[in-house]
Amino acid sequence: MITSQVMAGVDIENLADIYQTPLVIYSASQLLQNVSDLKNTIPLGAELIYSLKANPNPALMQILAAQDLIIDVASTGELVHALQYGIPPKQIIFGGPGKSPEGIKIALEAGILAFNTESKQELLLLRKYSELLHTKTQVMLRVNPPLSAAEAILRMGGVASPFGIEEADLDEVISLCSPDLVEYAGLFVYAGSQYLKAEDIATNTRYLLKMIAERSLTNQINQTHQLPITMLDFGGGFGVPESDEQPGLDLDRLRQELKILFDELPANLQATLQRIFFESGRFITASAGVFVTTVMDIKISRGKKFVIVDGGNNNLGVKQPQYRVFEPSIWIAGRKTEIPVEEVTIVGSTCTPLDVVHKGIKLPEVRIGDRLVIDHCGAYLLSFSPLNFCGHPVPAEVLIRTDGEPLLIRARGKLTEACGIGFTVPFTG
Ligand SMILES: Cc1ncc(COP(=O)(O)O)c(C=O)c1O
Repeated sequence: MITSQVMAGVDIENLADIYQTPLVIYSASQLLQNVSDLKNTIPLGAELIYSLKANPNPALMQILAAQDLIIDVASTGELVHALQYGIPPKQIIFGGPGKSPEGIKIALEAGILAFNTESKQELLLLRKYSELLHTKTQVMLRVNPPLSAAEAILRMGGVASPFGIEEADLDEVISLCSPDLVEYAGLFVYAGSQYLKAEDIATNTRYLLKMIAERSLTNQINQTHQLPITMLDFGGGFGVPESDEQPGLDLDRLRQELKILFDELPANLQATLQRIFFESGRFITASAGVFVTTVMDIKISRGKKFVIVDGGNNNLGVKQPQYRVFEPSIWIAGRKTEIPVEEVTIVGSTCTPLDVVHKGIKLPEVRIGDRLVIDHCGAYLLSFSPLNFCGHPVPAEVLIRTDGEPLLIRARGKLTEACGIGFTVPFTG
């Protein structure tokens, strides 16, 4: 729980003093609560996948893996990261476009659970390396659906898209699978992220089930349609409000809608289907994290009050363009209940007019040294930010364990590495 001064029972200002700001604080209890809420929403027997891109911090990943979540990696780097931190290969699914031969080889050699395959070319690569390495694997083919529920804020399907395989091309790609190398396990649909309406997620789920039912009707005439489906990944896109005005996702309604769909699963599909997946990154981690930043300066320019903080878009990065309405809920640590008395614009400390954290927010009187707290910052924060811009150190991350103990889970970056690590080649002129 987050109150005016404490998160999960721990004093925010105290943590900010110890670990400096900008700082990200997570609550393990909230993380587990979010997992349990989603597990109770998806149909009985379905499994939850955690999309590592939302937050790859090893501590969070390990907590989630211990809850039996499958880890969805979307790059060779994420794959190696998950393996390096002890995630069992059979708990990993490798998705995402543009997979490299290097990543495919590492995944095949490790023996991961499955690939979510994005294209014919990728399937051919998988075949090639399965043969070369004498391994075999399973694939779910990602379909680009002909529709996309209207209100996904980040739409990824139902339009011309680099993601997935067009429905019309599915048979050809399925025919390239073979049980000895790359076994066709089933299909995957991911139409978009940040759905805030239960019906939209249900619509995407319904689409995949309907498409499979229609394809099974043509069993008699097309060999590829007869391949049994053992795995289906329905994606998700479970949304989290990004401003106080947005309504949250109605999980009760979603549970009911999904239940109806899965109660009516055709008998032939029920007979072969072994694993059903739903994926989420944002819903699982977003509300489990807050971002804390300190007010460094305050100035009035042409009648407008600017509050300059030490963590802006270099840490909250793509939130602004990502969500057309990003008006995060921000409050002053220790003064959450005070009445707003002034309108200010909060900006970060990078040298760009784009570094606006919140334009025109009403707050109690802001003072230099105040700690501002931004809610819902557990997802797509540091993993989706231009961290090297203007050379500020990467923020520390602290996890409040379920027993209330704060634990440093990423040390603050060093000033000497602030402009980007890895540039170790000496310049010889
Ligand atoms: C294929 C796929 N799966 C899962 C996710 C995770 O989305 P979210 O964090 O909104 O749940 C994404 C996000 O881009 C995605 O592209």
